[in-house]
Amino acid sequence: MYMKKNLCLLYLLSIFCYSHAQNENLNLEQKIDSTLSKMTIREKIGQLNQLDGRGTIEDLKVIIRKGEIGSVMNVTEPKVVNELQKIACEQSRTGIPLIFTRDVVHGFKTMLPIPLGQAATFNPELIQEGARVAAVEATEHGVRWSFAPMIDISRDARWGRIAESFGEDTYLTEKMAIAVVKGFQGDNLADARSMAACAKHFIGYGAVEGGRDYNSTHIPDRQLRDVYLPPFEKAIKAGCSSIMTSFNDNDGIPATGNSTLLKDILRKEWGFDGVVVSDWGSVTEMIKHGFAEDRKDAARKAIEAGLDMEMSSKSFIQYLEELIAKDIVSETTLDNAVRNVLRLKFRLGLFDSPYTEINKPIETYSGKHLATAKKIAEESIVLLKNEGNTLPLSSRIKNLLVVGPLADAPHDQLGTWTMDGEIERTQTPIKALREMYGDKVKIHFIKGLEYSRDKNTINFNQVLAKARQVDAIIAFMGEEAILSGEAHCLADIKLQGAQSEFIKKLSETNKPLITVIMAGRPLTISEELNQSDAVLYAWHPGTMGGNALADILFGKTAPSGKLPVTFPKAVGQIPIYYNHTNTGRPATGKEKSLDQIPLNAKQSVLGHSSYYLDLGIQPLFPFGYGLSYTTFKYSDLKAARTIVAPNDTLSISVKVKNTGQYKGTEVVQLYISDLVGSVTRPVKELKGFKRVELAPDEEKEVLFRLPLHSLAFWNMDMKKVVEPGKFKIMVGTDSESGLETFFEVK
Ligand code: BGC
Repeated sequence: MYMKKNLCLLYLLSIFCYSHAQNENLNLEQKIDSTLSKMTIREKIGQLNQLDGRGTIEDLKVIIRKGEIGSVMNVTEPKVVNELQKIACEQSRTGIPLIFTRDVVHGFKTMLPIPLGQAATFNPELIQEGARVAAVEATEHGVRWSFAPMIDISRDARWGRIAESFGEDTYLTEKMAIAVVKGFQGDNLADARSMAACAKHFIGYGAVEGGRDYNSTHIPDRQLRDVYLPPFEKAIKAGCSSIMTSFNDNDGIPATGNSTLLKDILRKEWGFDGVVVSDWGSVTEMIKHGFAEDRKDAARKAIEAGLDMEMSSKSFIQYLEELIAKDIVSETTLDNAVRNVLRLKFRLGLFDSPYTEINKPIETYSGKHLATAKKIAEESIVLLKNEGNTLPLSSRIKNLLVVGPLADAPHDQLGTWTMDGEIERTQTPIKALREMYGDKVKIHFIKGLEYSRDKNTINFNQVLAKARQVDAIIAFMGEEAILSGEAHCLADIKLQGAQSEFIKKLSETNKPLITVIMAGRPLTISEELNQSDAVLYAWHPGTMGGNALADILFGKTAPSGKLPVTFPKAVGQIPIYYNHTNTGRPATGKEKSLDQIPLNAKQSVLGHSSYYLDLGIQPLFPFGYGLSYTTFKYSDLKAARTIVAPNDTLSISVKVKNTGQYKGTEVVQLYISDLVGSVTRPVKELKGFKRVELAPDEEKEVLFRLPLHSLAFWNMDMKKVVEPGKFKIMVGTDSESGLETFFEVK
């Protein structure tokens, strides 16, 4: 009876909530229509115009007053933000507020690790906290719309923008995308501390040919559907307010002019009602692509394809009025785009409170924010090698030599897309080591190389002389920030300058050598790995990177990061990623290496499998790889059932035990292989992960709940289905090793 009453109440409440939400939506749409009905065509087009605010502010003011702009980029001085906003609200005829935007890609002032590093945490909850930190700091400075998260699947380390991505895997990227959207947008977008997210770049930008930025992509529809689109769909389901089109043309169609993408998939299939913004100049770049004849044609193609807002290239404001007057573009097309922009402005609460509060204590660089940045940095660092337990540094180490171009490079450790981070705030490794552990060990510091591309070996002898006197060496190597990021691609992803020679020389001293690499991408470091006793991969770890590293080096924290991307041995192995499909002649692992090939060998003596004679098939490190100071043992992998229906959820459990001497956290990874399909399927796919903290000797049972619908893929008939058949489960410490069991979908 009681239960019935409760259910009844719940039902009434849900009806109330539903109709309340519907009313709210109705109200919102009414407000949009009413605003729209009062606008001239010119003013409507103005809403679609987004311009950089870094030029002459006086010119901008004129444009704002005329109502010819909807959004301003890159103004982050709250007073200026308010000044411009006041002109929009009080001096333009419509009084429609502006939206201020910025690329808040991995933090605003408090810089978090680059997104590739964030992905290595395998900790979406923590990344959500990081995104909240960024949103609070950015909104305090007047920014209410960030051009992030960047969720391009990236399988090519030559591409500089891999640094901005969450790596090669769709599932991991989805989880990170949702985390950033939630962290930015909070529970209520209208809150003054909420910032609209922008999932970018739509679509396939990470697959640029040859890893060269802006290049064309050739992604077939099935791969687009299975690999590249899902993170965007998930971001939108999580409420993401906007989408940015990408620079590349896929299969001949530039994204900014692709109506299948922008209308059929985004709007019709996914029901997206937010803003679609172009990338910087990507509307008029369709001319260079050879897809539009001139600026007018580009404007027409973009708006007709479903683009709402044009970033920076001004072809809409220049030509749409004429195109509408001549009936080439319909006013309905224009109205639809304007509606989307107004909807975002209403949702952000800008009509009610357009200004940034100025005389309020701010949280930028608060202790809490710095602590979050440090925690993310800690969890992002991946231990690649630790021979003879070189790490953590033992209490026997009394004299430590710190060397390398990244040991004290406050600008570089912040990484790419650091627009507002300040080097004065950067905790570099040498600074942090001295402050935090300077009373425990004597720390000697000689850089040896000034910067990552430095080829001058003049200081090596001085370093080596000192090296012979100390108990251990820590070499901070890697890449300057400028070597990754937009348009910063490399044909060779080795350590630059004389860094490799430096590591070799240091290793010859036979002192314990710990190499820490700070970089925006995976680097090919086979040799350096062999020459070092321990290697930590720290990405570009942000403001608090030094402190995070210091605590890891001295064992206050055990590393727990896992690679979000496969590390190749050499550039020639690219593309290399764990969830590839199989060939008909997969490598057996028993192939001969180059040195084993007999002289005058006959054509067929090497067999016929898919591998490289010089490098085999294995990467340097697989996706998901990462060591700890302790060791973990997996046992008792169980699937609750062996036969399941496509709409079921399968429980999978495994026991994980800490078998070492340190407290540690393991990222337990669940992979599924769909053994036979109507089309070939990836050899395995990540479908779950859990971070588990374990004290020495402690054992926990880890439970995954696998909704079977997550195994759906685009089949032979281009339908998204879970196909019946046998599946393999693998649970383990990385994508290459684990316990296995099977189930069947019927
Ligand atoms: C980048 C975008 C970025 C935009 C605005 C472009 O060059 O591709 O990712 O959001 O600039 O700064």
